Amino acid sequence: MASDVILTALLLWLMPALLSAGVVKRQAEDEQDLEDQPCRTYTLNGLLHLDCANRGLKDLPDDLDYSAQVLLLSNNNFRTFPPQLQNFSRVETLDLSRNYLSHTIPNYLQDWDTLQTLNLSNNLYDTWISNGRKYSIRNLDLSKNKINAIDDRSFTTMPNLHFLDLSENRINDLPPGVFSEAHNLDSLILSRNYFSDVPAFQSPSLRSLHLSSCQIANLNVDSLIGMGSLVEIDLSINQLEEIPDNLASYTLQELNLSYNSINSLTDSSFSSLPHLAVLDLRGNEFRDVWSTSHFSSNPFLREVYVKGNRWSCEGFSVNLLLTYEFLTKEPSKIVDRESLICYTPSNVTQLSWQQAYIRTWHPVEVSTPSFTTIALMVGVIIGIVITSCVCRGLVAVTSEPSRPPPETTQLNLNGSAGQPRVESVILRVPLREDLPPTYDEALLMPRLNSSFHSLPDFVDEEEPRNYRRSRSIGDLTEHRPRLGDRRSMRRPIEIHTRIAIDE
Ligand SMILES: *[C@@H]1O[C@H](CO)[C@@H](O)[C@H](O)[C@H]1NC(C)=O
Ligand SMILES: *[C@@H]1O[C@H](CO)[C@@H](O)[C@H](O)[C@H]1NC(C)=O
Ligand SMILES: *[C@@H]1O[C@H](CO)[C@@H](O)[C@H](O)[C@H]1NC(C)=O
Ligand SMILES: *[C@@H]1O[C@H](CO)[C@@H](O)[C@H](O)[C@H]1NC(C)=O
Repeated sequence: MASDVILTALLLWLMPALLSAGVVKRQAEDEQDLEDQPCRTYTLNGLLHLDCANRGLKDLPDDLDYSAQVLLLSNNNFRTFPPQLQNFSRVETLDLSRNYLSHTIPNYLQDWDTLQTLNLSNNLYDTWISNGRKYSIRNLDLSKNKINAIDDRSFTTMPNLHFLDLSENRINDLPPGVFSEAHNLDSLILSRNYFSDVPAFQSPSLRSLHLSSCQIANLNVDSLIGMGSLVEIDLSINQLEEIPDNLASYTLQELNLSYNSINSLTDSSFSSLPHLAVLDLRGNEFRDVWSTSHFSSNPFLREVYVKGNRWSCEGFSVNLLLTYEFLTKEPSKIVDRESLICYTPSNVTQLSWQQAYIRTWHPVEVSTPSFTTIALMVGVIIGIVITSCVCRGLVAVTSEPSRPPPETTQLNLNGSAGQPRVESVILRVPLREDLPPTYDEALLMPRLNSSFHSLPDFVDEEEPRNYRRSRSIGDLTEHRPRLGDRRSMRRPIEIHTRIAIDE
């Protein structure tokens, strides 16, 4: 009896543990299944994807959905094109990047007339040779391989080729006719290769050419002649020391020469680039400020980048200001105006071209107030404060304590004899307890000395209390707010007025 109870209790106690162990085991099996399943099928943007990427696969399984349109096989261990590929026929994108491929592409790809994009980036190709078949490929990514040899016929069989990425390879030259049959080639990336010259191949359709980071030291005057549609060329991060005179392209709009070692321009540098619009010359070795005549043949120039050059503002020539105006006049060609900075001579380092120029030729206008000006201003203010204190003291002495002094006074505009005179205004100054007098009060003050003795005579008790003298003779009768309201608004005006007095 007792043992039964104990057994039941034990079972009840163990039940959850047993159950959960089973569940865990089943879950583990499910995950195992998923991992055994090398490919995932899903639809994205209306295209059937077969995703076998990142699995370390050496081979593909046989039971695949061969109707897939996007085939993702990147980051596996394929050394050859998997034979199962033959079974596909609707593929638009084949991504075989990050594998160990080095063989020419298989013949059956010529039957894939839907194929748009072939990604063979990050494989082991060291040459790229045509096998004579025609492919419909539009975008070909061959970046990050070890390609050093490309022959005349390499791309002759890809009439639809639109985008070609050959960056990060070991190419040091391209035969002139290599793209002559790629009539649709639009964009070519040759960055990070071993060129020492800009390759002068022909491509009537090419619009965008990237040759960044290639150790290029030579740009020939006719390098771009064979590219009759070229709009944009990136030659950044190379070793160019000069731009050849009359470098010619009738179509070129964007020229990126940033981070080279160019130190001068001439009037012929851009004279044969009539459509030049964007010019990047950041990080070069320019010192002498350009002349506007260097750009006289470039009416469409609209964006110029100049940061990171060590401009010499020595001499502060008129040319400096003209070029500054040419570059910054609205609409400004310089995106970053602050990049027009003088590097030498040392007394203008870090100043903008304009500041350096103005400071040299018009030192007073731009310079901060000189010591004498400040001293003068301080002196005047102190004088006024002292005067106002003296006045306040006098009023306190001369006014009768039982009769509060009137706050306001009505002035006669003409100041004619018999009427309260202008001097009577001065009486009110001390009443504004902690405030120095206004501009007009200050103007009137010196006269105070001569009439101190008669001050009490001018106090007119009958005047309406709400009228106070105003700041200029022209609006003496103007109805002004009372003292308390005015106090806060007086100070800023006063500072302005002081400066006016100094001048
Ligand atoms: C797919 O290709 C493999 C390898 O070439 C072949 O053995 C298999 O029969 C093909 N399957 C279909 C359905 O065509
Ligand atoms: C090719 O694959 C690489 C790496 O997998 C990727 O970075 C690159 O964008 C792809 N190229 C194209 C043209 O899609
Ligand atoms: C020029 O090339 C540099 C470096 O490659 C890049 O950072 C910059 O954005 C390019 N300039 C323009 C205008 O595209
Ligand atoms: C800076 O120094 C140069 C001489 O190197 C001198 O001609 C110029 O007037 C100086 N400019 C200013 C703003 O002090």
